[in-house]
Amino acid sequence: MESVSWIRKYMPKKLSDIEARVRVLDELKNFITNFKKGKALLLYGSSGGGKTSSVYALAHDLGYELVEINASDTRNAQQINSLLGGASKQASLFFKSKIILVDELDGITGREDRGGVQAILKLIGTSVYPIVLVANDPYNKKFSGLRKKSVLLEYRTRPYTSVLKFLKKVCKQEKIRYDEEALTVLARRAGGDIRAAINDLQSLAFADKRLTKKEVEDYSDRDKTDSIIQAMIKVFKTTDIDVALGAFDNVDENLDKIFLWMDENLPKEYVKPVDLAKGFDALSRADVFKGRIIRWQYYRFYVYCYNLLSAGIALSKDEKYRNLVKYKPTSRIFKLWFAKQRNAKKKAIAEKIGDKTHTSTKRALQDTLPYLKPVFKKNKKEAEKITNYLDLDKEQVEWLRK
Ligand SMILES: Nc1ncnc2c1ncn2[C@@H]1O[C@H](COP(=O)(O)OP(=O)(O)OP(=O)(O)O)[C@@H](O)[C@H]1O
Ligand SMILES: [Mg+2]
Repeated sequence: MESVSWIRKYMPKKLSDIEARVRVLDELKNFITNFKKGKALLLYGSSGGGKTSSVYALAHDLGYELVEINASDTRNAQQINSLLGGASKQASLFFKSKIILVDELDGITGREDRGGVQAILKLIGTSVYPIVLVANDPYNKKFSGLRKKSVLLEYRTRPYTSVLKFLKKVCKQEKIRYDEEALTVLARRAGGDIRAAINDLQSLAFADKRLTKKEVEDYSDRDKTDSIIQAMIKVFKTTDIDVALGAFDNVDENLDKIFLWMDENLPKEYVKPVDLAKGFDALSRADVFKGRIIRWQYYRFYVYCYNLLSAGIALSKDEKYRNLVKYKPTSRIFKLWFAKQRNAKKKAIAEKIGDKTHTSTKRALQDTLPYLKPVFKKNKKEAEKITNYLDLDKEQVEWLRK
C-alpha cells in the first residue's frame, strides 16, 4: 500500500491546477511578469487555500527559479539578509529569473523579530526580483510597515463547491467509490481549507478505496471526542481560573454530553475526598442552572452553567494531581448512541417501505416492518425479492436478518 501523503501527491504543479478565482491568479501572474522594483506582493487569506502552492505553480509555468525562505524559521535580520541579499542581487544574465518567496510571515513575532521585518523591508527596496510575501493575517500591527510597501492580494476562502470539485478529482485519480453526500459533508466541513479536506479524505478512504456516509459520521464524532478530552484536561489539570474558564469554548458538543463526561471522569481524577465533594458540588450546581435554562428558557444561565463546569470544578482542588488519567466517555453515552443507531437503521428501512407503498414512515414502522424480520430470517427467496423491490442495502438486509 502506498503511503505518500495526498497533500504532496496532489500539490498543484501548474497554475491551472489551482482552485481559485481567475482574477486572483491573473493578478499574481501580472505582478510577477510586470514587476517593478520597490513593491512586494502580499498574499493573504486563511490556511490551506493555495497561497504557497500557487506561487510554486506560477514559478513552474514561467520557468522561474523559486527562492523560498520561511519567515518563521528565520528569526533574525542577518539570516534573512544573507539568504536573500545574495539572491536578490545576483545578476542572472544566463540564469533563470527568480521569485523570492517569504512564506508564513505570521511566524515573525514580538520584539526580537523587529529586525526580521526591517530586513524584509530593506530587501523590498533593493531586490531586482519580485518578492512575494505570504501571511494569514496581514492586518496585524507588526506588518504595518510591510503593508505600505506591498500590493495586497486576498485569497478568499474557497466555497465548499470548489473544495468538492477538488476532492472529486482526487477520488477519480485514486479510484475511490464515494457516497456523494459523504463527500459533500467532508468538503463543507473543511471550511475552505483544501489541505484539511484532502487529509480527511485520505485517512478515511485510502485503505478501502471507499467513502461511506457512516465513515464520515463516525469521523466527526471522533473529532468531538478529542475536543471534549482536551476540555477535561484543561479543567482537571489546572488551578488557574483563566485556563479553566476557556475550557469549553471550542467544544462543539451538547451540554448533556458534557455533563455525562464530567460525571464519569471527576471521581477518577479527584482522589482526595474533600476535592471530590467540592467538585461534585460544583457539578450539581451547574446542573441546577441547566434545569433552569430548560424550564425557563433563560439562556443567560448558560454562562453560569459553563463557569461552574469549568472554573468551579477546576478550583475544587488545592493542587493538581500529577497522575495521568485516561478520560473516557461514560458507558451511558454509548448505550444511548447505540440505541439511536439502531433506531436510525429501522427508520431508514421504514422510509423505503413508505416510499414504495405510499404510506407514512410511522405506519411502515408499526405495521409492515415487524413482518419483514421473520421473512428475512426464514425465507431467503422471498427476502431477495423484497430486497430488490425496496432497494435495500447490505446493512439493512443484515439488520433485518438479525
Ligand atoms: N486552491 C487550491 N487549489 C488546489 N489545491 C489546493 C488549493 N489550496 C490548497 N490546496 C492543496 O492543499 C495543499 C496546501 O495548500 P497551500 O500550502 O498552498 O495553502 P496555503 O494557503 O499556503 O496555506 P497556509 O496558510 O496554511 O500556508 C496544497 O499542496 C494542495 O494540495
Ligand atoms: Mg502556505
